[in-house]
Amino acid sequence: VNDTFELSYEEIKEILEVKRSYENSRASSIEALKIVQKKRGWISRSSINAISKILRISESDLEEIATFYSQIFRKPVGRNIIRYCDSVVCYMHGCEDIKFFLEKRLNIFIGETTKDFRFTLLPTCCLGACDKAPVIMINDHTYFCLTLKLIVELLESYK
Ligand code: FES
Repeated sequence: VNDTFELSYEEIKEILEVKRSYENSRASSIEALKIVQKKRGWISRSSINAISKILRISESDLEEIATFYSQIFRKPVGRNIIRYCDSVVCYMHGCEDIKFFLEKRLNIFIGETTKDFRFTLLPTCCLGACDKAPVIMINDHTYFCLTLKLIVELLESYK
């Protein structure tokens, strides 16, 4: 663990607020991890160490939560996160083609990040919009009834 690592005053303040407002330590852990990830992009070992001290939970418990929860990244990711839905309805509507297309276009495989750190590609389970399959999410935005043409346009718009 890097001894010079420090959370910012703002981060500590937000984490303490979260700690106060959630009785459940698992829920507050996830929120605290999100606070740090929001600024830093991912959660390092040093972040785990620092957060665990504030929340007063063991590092290994926090590590386990961070690893289990797919929204928390444990290594550096791209500026934009693409999640394509691979659940059953999207599967029937060609999400495999979308996956192959994205892999080829971005020159990465699932779970990887482009060299320029512009995109990370991940699968996700049902996004709750099965009637508009196939569906992908880029960062916080969901896109429906995808075509390959639409995907090309979308990729262009995320820098
Ligand atoms: Fe893809 Fe439901 S299966 S949104």
